[in-house]
Amino acid sequence: MSEQAKPRIHIDPYLEWVKKEGLIVHRGFYLYLVDVETRMWDRVGVPAAACHLNGRGDFANMFVFDLPPGGSTLPQQHIYEEVVYCLSGQGSTQLEFADGTKRSFEWGERSMFAIPLNAKYRHFNGSGREKARIVSTTDLPMLMNVFHNERFIFENKFDFSERIGKENHYGGDGDLVMIRPGNNLWETNFVPDLDAIELKPWGERGGGSTNIMFVLADGLMHAHISEMPLGTYKKAHKHGAGVHVMCVSGTGYSLLWFDGDKDYERIDWKHGMVFPPAEQQFHQHFNTSKRPARYFATGVGGLRYPFLAHMRKATGATRDGDKAEVGAATSVKLGGDQIEYEDQDQRIQPLFDAECSKNGIQQNMDGFFPNKAAAE
Ligand SMILES: [Fe+2]
Repeated sequence: MSEQAKPRIHIDPYLEWVKKEGLIVHRGFYLYLVDVETRMWDRVGVPAAACHLNGRGDFANMFVFDLPPGGSTLPQQHIYEEVVYCLSGQGSTQLEFADGTKRSFEWGERSMFAIPLNAKYRHFNGSGREKARIVSTTDLPMLMNVFHNERFIFENKFDFSERIGKENHYGGDGDLVMIRPGNNLWETNFVPDLDAIELKPWGERGGGSTNIMFVLADGLMHAHISEMPLGTYKKAHKHGAGVHVMCVSGTGYSLLWFDGDKDYERIDWKHGMVFPPAEQQFHQHFNTSKRPARYFATGVGGLRYPFLAHMRKATGATRDGDKAEVGAATSVKLGGDQIEYEDQDQRIQPLFDAECSKNGIQQNMDGFFPNKAAAE
């Protein structure tokens, strides 16, 4: 009897591809993207790395790219989507669509933009002296695991010119669509400075917080930015995996835990820290800096195209007449995914008080506790 061939099972085509490309892979519960190591990625022509965070889920990954002074990437084209954020440096990106339309824009630290599906593009470093580091969140793991064919992903000539969008969406402009708190929408392709874009109130998530949701290049990728005012923190909540939370400005910390855990995991914030909370892992963000603090979140499935059950829940979308589920900003006591301030663990506020005094700031939460406010 001949020996049975090794069964070809349990394959993750995306991970096989990462290995074949020779990419350095960084793993962890969180990563400080500013100092992760990169190595020349021949496909792109610049040093790069893949980031596979514990809570990344089944659909998303991150790449880090270093553009050397005066350098540029090779021309790229692929049928996965990519939301790019500039960690440091400055440069420009040139896009070319199948119908010959071209677009270009200049970016700098804290800029964010999307590569429209299957557009040809190149990134250029605008400085002859400084390196530029950009990071992207992509849905390549999903695409590669569906098709497991590299040529289909990278040599696909299909024309998606309907994704070009408006010309002014590459110049820092966009269209604001006010839907409701938490779901207000900025449709664009490029945001010059995530620390400067105007946000809208979303009081239900706590502490006077504000946010804006993005629709980028009419794509599937989710992106939103939230801000916490001075001396405040958000309410804890949970949802599905894969939402990569990245600190943009200010400092603070996040606590993460699963239902029933005795203790928290803690991540201290600074620009470039990223962590995706795991599936149904509670997370709560705290601002302990002397200024408002902002974080940016990216993942698969957004407000226009929720795609995933947890994104439908978070954005209040329904499917085929299903009843809308309560979610992101509804108390767990009412079947939602949020812990109201008055229900939170007794250790949370004292820890925040201590962290604020350590940093020489005044906590500003009293008005957000209904009982406390009424008693005074
Ligand atoms: Fe969240």
